[in-house]
Amino acid sequence: MYSKLNSILSSELEELKKKNLYRFLRTIESAQGPEVILNGKRVILMCSNNYLGLANHPRIIKAAKESMERYGYGAVASRLVSGNMSIHEEFEKVIAQFKRSQKALLFNCGYMANIGVISTICESAKDLVISDKLNHASIIDGLMLSKANFATYRHNDLEHLEKILKTKKARRRLIVVDGVFSMDGDIAPLKDIVELAEKYEAIVMVDDAHATGVIGEKGRGSVEYWDLYERLDIQMGTLGKALGGFGAFICGSETLIEYLINKCRPLIYTTALPVPVVAAALEALKILIEKPEMVATLRNNVKYFVEGLQKIGLEVKDNGSAIVPVIIGDEKRCLRMSERLFELGIYVAAIRPPTVPKGTARLRVTLMATHTKEHLEKAIFAFQKAASEIL
Ligand SMILES: Cc1ncc(COP(=O)(O)O)c(C=O)c1O
Repeated sequence: MYSKLNSILSSELEELKKKNLYRFLRTIESAQGPEVILNGKRVILMCSNNYLGLANHPRIIKAAKESMERYGYGAVASRLVSGNMSIHEEFEKVIAQFKRSQKALLFNCGYMANIGVISTICESAKDLVISDKLNHASIIDGLMLSKANFATYRHNDLEHLEKILKTKKARRRLIVVDGVFSMDGDIAPLKDIVELAEKYEAIVMVDDAHATGVIGEKGRGSVEYWDLYERLDIQMGTLGKALGGFGAFICGSETLIEYLINKCRPLIYTTALPVPVVAAALEALKILIEKPEMVATLRNNVKYFVEGLQKIGLEVKDNGSAIVPVIIGDEKRCLRMSERLFELGIYVAAIRPPTVPKGTARLRVTLMATHTKEHLEKAIFAFQKAASEIL
């Protein structure tokens, strides 16, 4: 019955295998932590976005359980119908205060927040979305979904951005940028971007998926790192990375949130996040507010690891985030490095095109505040061994 479809799909899958671009799922059979059981083997996890190690925190588990005892599990309707519960609003109050914005709005994930907000703010061919070349796929999909025109500027190239702002006129012009770039780990020059936006009357949206809980002394993300309080129009953040769970939020003015509630389809036409997910996110946020020193611990781990890799001759740098890309270039060698590291007890996924540009396949290492020195030493040793055999 499926043979026609299968034969079409199988030939494409074969092509992917030949090009070393085939993807498959690996299974984690333990809680998410600095060590996990992966396909039956205990390994040190070096590619998760669990930056603060909160995914399995006992306080968060307790909060999720208690919330279910009080409110049950599901919200079972969209926010606008009957799915809006006090736990959603409580989270929004706390995150808005944390980011020092007027208001916040939960989304079901960062992908939906990005496609929703971009396509709602820029909704017609009269509008223009301006995007950094290395922005996350969900931003690209947001601008594809929006009926607006778009322009891409070279990565972090402010002159190019200014040229676009000078020459391309539109009703609304929205500059969207990753606060921390997901595959490179570098921090966008947001202060300069905001200054250009102010000069040319454009709107700025920052995607802080990898910045919340990671940059700024208290982990407030780009707004704190660049001291841009009250100057950033739209801040997006996810709950599935440093905050250890799932979901996302938008912070901004009261009017922005009111507008999104009225017009943003990926908010309006979907079921609200379940209770324990939001209660867990709220507890994670409270832990971060109480213990900002976790951010400094993460920072120290990044420094230690980068220095270790530099000492063994690998070309890496500390970009100020928790992401350390080890660029290999060729897809096949990148896969071999990942496999060899796994044999040596370290798990780092091989990131290949189309996630990253062709010729830049990489091991995207990510650090956690809960990695110990021993974990990092073991990882550095394994990198040395694998690199000496393969690179
Ligand atoms: C920069 C960036 N934005 C958005 C997302 C999407 O967030 P979510 O996983 O919550 O959908 C991700 C990662 O998944 C990301 O890396």
